[in-house]
Amino acid sequence: MSQPPRLGEVSDRNLALELVRVTEAAAIAAARWIGRGQKNDADGAAVEAMRIAFDTVAIDGTVVIGEGEMDEAPMLYIGEKVGFGGPAMDIAVDPLEGTSITAKGGQNAIATVALAERGNFLHAPDIYMEKIAVGGGLPEGVVTLNASVQTNLKNLAKAKGIDIEELMVCMLDRDRHAETIAKIREAGARIMLIGDGDVAGVIAASQPTTGVDMYLGSGGAPEGVLAAAALRCIGGQMQGQLLFEDDAQIARALTMGITDPSRIYSIEEMAKGNVMFSATGVTGGPMLNGVRRVGHGAVTHSIVMRSKSGTVRYIEGHHNFAKKTFAV
Ligand code: FBP
Repeated sequence: MSQPPRLGEVSDRNLALELVRVTEAAAIAAARWIGRGQKNDADGAAVEAMRIAFDTVAIDGTVVIGEGEMDEAPMLYIGEKVGFGGPAMDIAVDPLEGTSITAKGGQNAIATVALAERGNFLHAPDIYMEKIAVGGGLPEGVVTLNASVQTNLKNLAKAKGIDIEELMVCMLDRDRHAETIAKIREAGARIMLIGDGDVAGVIAASQPTTGVDMYLGSGGAPEGVLAAAALRCIGGQMQGQLLFEDDAQIARALTMGITDPSRIYSIEEMAKGNVMFSATGVTGGPMLNGVRRVGHGAVTHSIVMRSKSGTVRYIEGHHNFAKKTFAV
């Protein structure tokens, strides 16, 4: 006969569902700024709404990936305590991943949060990280940052039983990627260039419906940790390598516990143990619908996942602003 779930497991499950309220609040607040050309206002609205929503979550939370240092960010800064008490958790947030997307009314802006037990997220500084990611069900190490682009593509195509020509690589459309883009095309694979939002880009590599086989390239290191948390839950492989531009960045990273600047981090080294992840669409994309205003309310679309169970839930929230039950 199956045992009833233990208390810790029950609260763990409930916590994952609580998290969705936090990303819903941020997404609804940011959505008011879609297409207004004011990315900072969109970001500020998402940050404030997320910070308020955290007051309702039963954790003793510490922000480890946040909006910046205490002296540069008024809310959700690194080290800030959030939640009203409960298990000690570390928190990675990006209240609005895709500020420019939102300002321009583009696709794939999300509000996102990840949670892990204390000490389990890489304390990534706000610099670039080189990232490589593929979906689940592939041989361990099929792609790696140590290998050339051509070798990775060859090995991935072989593992998937398809030609390199059929592979689709997702990358941020940046001048700094010109050489890698040329190598991918020379090898025969295709490229989906995205304007912004590499958390969604990495997740896309794990979703068969997106047509993306691999994510590659440099983007924000904090976004790398969030993407690693998502992939830990949904299944997939990822590596990240911090890209330092000067000695000052290396010195600062040292104070955050990063002793080997050239280390290639595995997915578990970026997001260890039991991880939970929630994202709510701000603007629509292949994975999530954006916030839709309806009458005196809004409809939100979120994904919530837990690494422990591997469960992935899509949640459609219907919010009635006339009732004062919502945190925005
Ligand atoms: P913001 O939401 O902070 O604007 O970040 C968007 C983003 O595209 C991230 O997804 C990505 O990691 C980073 O910016 C890339 O930085 P850059 O625009 O400097 O290439």
